[in-house]
Amino acid sequence: MKIIRKISAMKEFRADLKGNVGLVPTMGCLHPGHLELMKQSKRDNSATIVSIFVNPIQFGPREDFAKYPRDEQHDIGVLEQADVDAVFIPSADEIYPEGFGSWVEVNGVTEVLEGARREGHFRGVATVCHKLFNIILPTRAYFGQKDAQQVLTVKKMVADLNMHVEIAVVPIVRETDGLAISSRNSYLNSAERCAATVLYQALLNAQNLYVAGERNARAIATVVTTTLHAEPLAKVDYVAITDTINLQELEIISSIALVLLAVYIGETRLIDNIMLGI
Ligand code: PAJ
Repeated sequence: MKIIRKISAMKEFRADLKGNVGLVPTMGCLHPGHLELMKQSKRDNSATIVSIFVNPIQFGPREDFAKYPRDEQHDIGVLEQADVDAVFIPSADEIYPEGFGSWVEVNGVTEVLEGARREGHFRGVATVCHKLFNIILPTRAYFGQKDAQQVLTVKKMVADLNMHVEIAVVPIVRETDGLAISSRNSYLNSAERCAATVLYQALLNAQNLYVAGERNARAIATVVTTTLHAEPLAKVDYVAITDTINLQELEIISSIALVLLAVYIGETRLIDNIMLGI
């Protein structure tokens, strides 16, 4: 596996690749969720490149950029095992040199939910993904359904700006007790880790109601919120039931819908979602 830190070297490596190229953008601290994206890319493409970059511009001033977990040696070992072709690990100066001043703003999907609470977050995500796509020129780029609004934002950027990349979406990978795997789960102490299973329980309750025939979004949201409130360590940030394109809240679920949650478990903010009607 090639370890590449410079944009110029990454472009040279890319130019020599033949056939389809898959890119898996990550912020490192690699876990089984990331591995699933790599597996899918390896199935679909003749070469797979993983990027590791803790992107400073997608973190707000009060967010966890400084304490975000970083372990390059562990990640390189995981990637060797996963047998990907290259890892791109640029420095912050390489990606945002002095004088950097261009941004990608995606409207129509970033104004709500995560975007409403994390100012500038999706501008940071879209900008770095646009740069990674330009540097690596992937045939396909792989994203996890875990970050549903991120998927929709990147898809919209690609469509709106006529970019030459296919966005592939991989289902949420969960622990055996249902907790969606996330780098931020490492912030949880053992009591919080137990409490965190309430997110998936709440989503399953929503799914059960839907399967039983309930189509009133407010009725489903009430049950989700009640489930979350029953866990003393959980503090609900939002519960939303939306369409799957613009994330507009629904009253009646008439086709497929998303149930999205953001919940604080202690100090740690977790997100999760489930799709209804598929
Ligand atoms: P990161 O949080 O490292 O996630 C990298 C990719 O892995 C994202 O597409 C995310 O949705 C996916 N992922 C994380 N946990 C997952 C799980 N449990 N199941 C399935 N997929 C999962 O998301 C980012 O980094 C950044 O915003 C990035 C896109 C790299 C831009 O900086």
